[in-house]
Amino acid sequence: MLKSSVTFTQFSSPLKDWPGDAVLVFVGDADANEAKAAKLEQREALEPYGAYIDDLIQRGDFSAKKGEVFRVPLFWEGEAKNLYLAGLGDSQKADASVLRDTLASALRRIGREHNNSVLVSACSRLAVDPTSAGAALGEAAGLCGYSFDKYKKKDEAEADERFVLKEVLFPAGMFDPKSVEQGGIFAAAQSLARDVANEPGNVINPPILGEVARRIAEENGLTCEVWDDRRLALERMGALLCVGRASTTPPCLVHLVYKPTGGRGRKKAGKIALVGKGITFDSGGLNLKPSDHIKTMKGDKTGACNVLAIMAGVAALKLDAEVHGIMAVAENMPGGGAVRPDDIVRARNGKTIEIENTDAEGRLVLADALAFASELRPDVIIDIATLTGACAVALGNWTAGLFTADDALAEALSRSAARRGESLWRMPASDEKIGESLKSKVADLVNSGGRYGGATFAAMFLSEFVDKGIPWAHIDIAGVDFMKEESGVYSRGASAWGVRTCLDYITEGGWRA
Ligand code: BES
Ligand code: MN
Ligand code: ZN
Repeated sequence: MLKSSVTFTQFSSPLKDWPGDAVLVFVGDADANEAKAAKLEQREALEPYGAYIDDLIQRGDFSAKKGEVFRVPLFWEGEAKNLYLAGLGDSQKADASVLRDTLASALRRIGREHNNSVLVSACSRLAVDPTSAGAALGEAAGLCGYSFDKYKKKDEAEADERFVLKEVLFPAGMFDPKSVEQGGIFAAAQSLARDVANEPGNVINPPILGEVARRIAEENGLTCEVWDDRRLALERMGALLCVGRASTTPPCLVHLVYKPTGGRGRKKAGKIALVGKGITFDSGGLNLKPSDHIKTMKGDKTGACNVLAIMAGVAALKLDAEVHGIMAVAENMPGGGAVRPDDIVRARNGKTIEIENTDAEGRLVLADALAFASELRPDVIIDIATLTGACAVALGNWTAGLFTADDALAEALSRSAARRGESLWRMPASDEKIGESLKSKVADLVNSGGRYGGATFAAMFLSEFVDKGIPWAHIDIAGVDFMKEESGVYSRGASAWGVRTCLDYITEGGWRA
């Protein structure tokens, strides 16, 4: 079962009674001004450090700028070994996202500076309510220590930087304990998705990803079925099959199921289908990618890794919904057996597709997976995919694209994304003129329509495989799946963007509203 990487403990006694490694105190600009004008309001509560913090602010050593983390040199035998101050900037504007990112940077540093435990406190009441603050703390603490370095020989300098933070203590009045625990599980799910997504293509190929899914399903009490290429042919999944044809490792489809035990009847609880793009490596196929674009394409399986991790999260949180996770898995390679431009393939729902470009493979594997998901008659379908460079060009590296015709679904997902600090922007899900370019002269559809409007084209292509009566959203994470530098809750490498948003959506029962 998924478990948070750090343990969380409530601690509501005065700071001076805390004998552990470190104390982290949040300071907003209002506190800073107060300290400069007179004396910190909460000075008593901050003893034995209050007067000292007061002094530091008055001298201008620490200005409480947003994201600023300051290690306070302690000259006397303090109760704790280390004291850190973290700036929130404008205290009124410091929302949960600011808190989450600042917590992550501060806790990351505290962990790297050999503190095993930290007590989190603040100079004055946070502007963020305890539920949101608790979630932010759980997520930040659970994510900030993440690194993917299992293949790296650790030299001494780096060993010295090893993250050791294991325990986070917090006052329950400031951070709601249940939300903290839940945030820790969200983070654990996201870390799991990162672990799988970060593995290179020579380690994780389609059959291996199927095995990984089986193992994780078993560990988390999910049922799991893996369809190999022979079964895919029997199931008429010609679109998924054609993408994997030139790889030496055949494609597969993974179907994970979570069913709530007891509680409400199935009907009331609702049924959700999540679909993920799982291209273990996207070379582009015969339309081979140029050098600049082929690197990092091990990350093209992130959607499927996210779905797998969300399923584990749903099980760990014992959520009250029937959830289906579908991973469409293939390796897109060139070769003698590869699918060619001009080829015509038939998808599971009977529609024929003319291959215009073999690098537009994600929509092909998703086509069959979405048709399959529709057959399950869920209340809602959400797919997550590193689908188009166009989406990355439009929104940049920090915001994912949301495509849906369903306003209520868009609103619920946007709310979940905002609550969990994952930036999501709604894009046009359809366009009459782009729709016309979907038509083929020789088949029902073409799989590519050129560069302009590429993200909307892809979304419209996918919609051809979703049953019209089912609310459906497509999330394009091509721009956000891979982080070049660490920042806030992100470490270098796979971000697993979307895991927190989707878990929040399912937790909140967003489809019921
Ligand atoms: N996996 C890529 C999309 C991608 C691009 C993900 C950049 C992450 C970062 C996808 O399979 C792809 O190659 N899309 C093409 C589609 C085109 C051929 C219509 C693209 O976006 O260029
Ligand atoms: Mn591609
Ligand atoms: Zn791709």
